Amino acid sequence: MSNESPQSRLARIRNQLEISGQAHLLKHWDRLNDRQRDELLGDIEQINFAALKGLVNDYVLSGKGFRLPTEIRPVEVYPARPGIDLVGKYADALKRGVALIKAGKVAAFTVAGGQGTRLGFDGPKGAFRISPIRQKPLFQLFAEGIRGSNRRYGADVPWYIMTSPQNDRATREFFAENGYFGLRPERVRFFTQGVMPAFGRDGRILLDQPHRVAFSPDGHGGSLLALKRSGCLAEMAAAGVEVISYFQVDNPLVSVVDPLFLGLHAITGSEMSSKVIPKVDDLERVGNFVIGDGRTMVVEYSDLPEELARARDERGNRLYDAGSIAIHAIDRRFVERLTADEATFALPWHRAVKKVPFVNDAGVRVEPAEPNAIKLEAFIFDAIPLAGQPLVLQTVRSEEFSPVKNDRGVDSAETARRDMVLRAAAWLDGAGYPVPRRADGTPDGLYEISPLLALDAGHLREVLLEPPPMVRGGDVYLE
Ligand code: UD1
Repeated sequence: MSNESPQSRLARIRNQLEISGQAHLLKHWDRLNDRQRDELLGDIEQINFAALKGLVNDYVLSGKGFRLPTEIRPVEVYPARPGIDLVGKYADALKRGVALIKAGKVAAFTVAGGQGTRLGFDGPKGAFRISPIRQKPLFQLFAEGIRGSNRRYGADVPWYIMTSPQNDRATREFFAENGYFGLRPERVRFFTQGVMPAFGRDGRILLDQPHRVAFSPDGHGGSLLALKRSGCLAEMAAAGVEVISYFQVDNPLVSVVDPLFLGLHAITGSEMSSKVIPKVDDLERVGNFVIGDGRTMVVEYSDLPEELARARDERGNRLYDAGSIAIHAIDRRFVERLTADEATFALPWHRAVKKVPFVNDAGVRVEPAEPNAIKLEAFIFDAIPLAGQPLVLQTVRSEEFSPVKNDRGVDSAETARRDMVLRAAAWLDGAGYPVPRRADGTPDGLYEISPLLALDAGHLREVLLEPPPMVRGGDVYLE
């Protein structure tokens, strides 16, 4: 379209809008200056008109949402600690995982495009300072995890970070200002995810300003297409990357490239693997792994009927107990296969009714008091039912999961810091250096272990050759 005249561009877009019932987007055209007109047309051109009608009918007007499978049963998981029957397999997997990492066949991948509204932090969530003593931001902990892995396995793991149009610039600046946390800049690759317009309940796309469409990020499920469109997928293929180690920006305990998990993924021929933990309670706000109509899938907490969430087996154990911690191993070739035809690939959309400020037909910006808009997001875990041999590995919560989601209470900075201290103290105990504890058993003082020193308890035992200076109530930082 590059040699299209401005008039024919406008005519083409106007026509498209009329056909799809969205002509109101040009309502304020006469009031706009040239720059604003160009911005508005640019916004409109980002909308996938081919899919729009179906989308509006299915998800906005009819409110068709998630459909629970007809037949649903618990998923089989690989245990966190192998029984006698699996010891050999886990040992092989570990070897295979280390070999993959060492050979440059694994890329770390962080989805960091979310808006972090619940945390109430103004900035990219990865810039949020979380570690208990040094106050390291989340991104620094992941960077150190990669550097620690590079050192331990003799590797040079590339790191892909998905941002959104809203936080891309701030994210890149944050890395530049901080010297990429010791990584070589060329090993850190940022790319931006796609967006979806917000809809009024009548199916009309909302304007955020007279010349701007109200867009928001299209969900972490958008990462698959974004990997392709950004060229990252092709770069991975050229560099020989086979497995993508996917994790969210909100979990400071994540093991950024876990050889056992990646190795199990590889030796079982899985195309997409996931880590789960036993839930703390029936209604914990995590996705639930189940077999639905014969396929492994995740049912989000908000979609799981309460009687299923509370169901027990004959021994009284929770039937649906495999909670998703949103860590996946994803085959690069699987992503290539899914996104081969960009025009037709789509994961199902999930709708959320939200408050979205908008410009009305009279040109007045309205701050709604009540939820007024439908936002659509795709979820990465909806790719699991499309994957061959999906593997699910159980892991230990205190070792790998303590997300920062809320500004207080559960899953907050406070609980994540507490869990970082508890894990560091447990590792020290395990290495033969018991930490001073209070009467209630909690560590007396703060403990923080950089991933540059050790990536897990066994690793700490190997590398910590003399007792760290520990005094009651004192802080111990090890690097
Ligand atoms: C998510 C999972 C839930 C899982 C839990 C574990 C969903 C819908 N639910 O919940 O099953 O048990 O994590 O912590 O994902 N993101 C983007 N772009 C977007 C939207 C999100 O990159 O458009 C990223 C965020 O930056 C974040 C991650 O995805 O890293 C999670 O997003 P969030 O919406 O916070 O998910 P949760 O509801 O917390």
